[in-house]
Amino acid sequence: MDPRSEVLLRQANLFTGPLLLAGLPADDLLGHFPEAHGWSWHAGEHSLLDTRFSGRCHFGTEPAARDVQAAVLFLPKSRELTEYLLNALAARMGGRELFLVGEKRAGIERAAKQLAAFGQARKLDSARHCQLWQVRVEHSPATPDLHSLAQRYELPLADGPLQVLSLPGVFSHGRLDVGSALLLEHLDDLPNGHILDFGCGAGVLGAALKRRYPDSQVTMLDVDAFAVASSRLTLAANALQADVISGDGIDAAPTGLSAILSNPPFHQGVHTHYQATEHLLRQAAKHLTSTGELRLVANSFLKYPPLIEQHLGSCQTLADAKGFRIYRACKD
Ligand SMILES: C[S@@+](CC[C@H](N)C(=O)[O-])C[C@H]1O[C@@H](n2cnc3c(N)ncnc32)[C@H](O)[C@@H]1O
Repeated sequence: MDPRSEVLLRQANLFTGPLLLAGLPADDLLGHFPEAHGWSWHAGEHSLLDTRFSGRCHFGTEPAARDVQAAVLFLPKSRELTEYLLNALAARMGGRELFLVGEKRAGIERAAKQLAAFGQARKLDSARHCQLWQVRVEHSPATPDLHSLAQRYELPLADGPLQVLSLPGVFSHGRLDVGSALLLEHLDDLPNGHILDFGCGAGVLGAALKRRYPDSQVTMLDVDAFAVASSRLTLAANALQADVISGDGIDAAPTGLSAILSNPPFHQGVHTHYQATEHLLRQAAKHLTSTGELRLVANSFLKYPPLIEQHLGSCQTLADAKGFRIYRACKD
């Protein structure tokens, strides 16, 4: 059980009626609160919850229209995303209770200060390295317009400027990541056909690919609903067309790909892990055609080449700069 869920269970008497659990972990909590519904923006967690508690968890960037007595937000990593989510929830919770639960190391104490905009906030519990806060929503904000919160920047690429739009909580919000910038300089000679941008984030790589290889089909995949929505905004801002899909890991991607391009994930929440990327390297061959290519950027300290060579083919380093490397491997 996630420690934040354990804290809620310590206060179970507060959560007996219809309840919304926003950003809930994929654990047993819904089983303990029969009148609760979940809202998740993580495709992997949503799918696990839906398998165990069918129809009780909604996936997306906005809460489902459902009447609840109280809502709990599980504190996300990003401060901007927290602000959007609190406003989206408080806009629906006038006169009712809004709770915020999170780990101390994730910044719950600081985040709880944002509750003051809605009413008198108080700390209800502190245990398992987490805190639980509550506010009765006296001042309901207007429903936030998510798209108006997108940050926009322009990239001066060789084939013309590219507009990039990113929503709160999305990787490298409002600016280009150094690794992605290096990968953008190494998009030459990818095999035409069907190209995947794995972990598309705001869609910068996928949009650049579609413009560079207009005859190729481009699919963009991300686990996060806010990233998927951002990628759609980025494509629209550049009048480009590609398939944008939500899914957890390479298993959710199509097969028959001519190339997989990625600045793969290496952080998740406050914990660091590389599972999704290692799984990508192990499974990429299954998704590529016999002449398919994997091209990715990674921090130089990450030991990906042996894994790539074991599961795909010989790994070439196309560039090594600013602490990042571009790797290229074709199926042997
Ligand atoms: C390093 S960021 C790169 C984002 C974007 N391609 C760019 O260059 O700015 C990695 C992305 O992978 C996504 N991601 C993390 N775990 C994933 C998973 N299991 N399946 C698919 N995408 C995942 C994250 O949400 C994030 O957007």
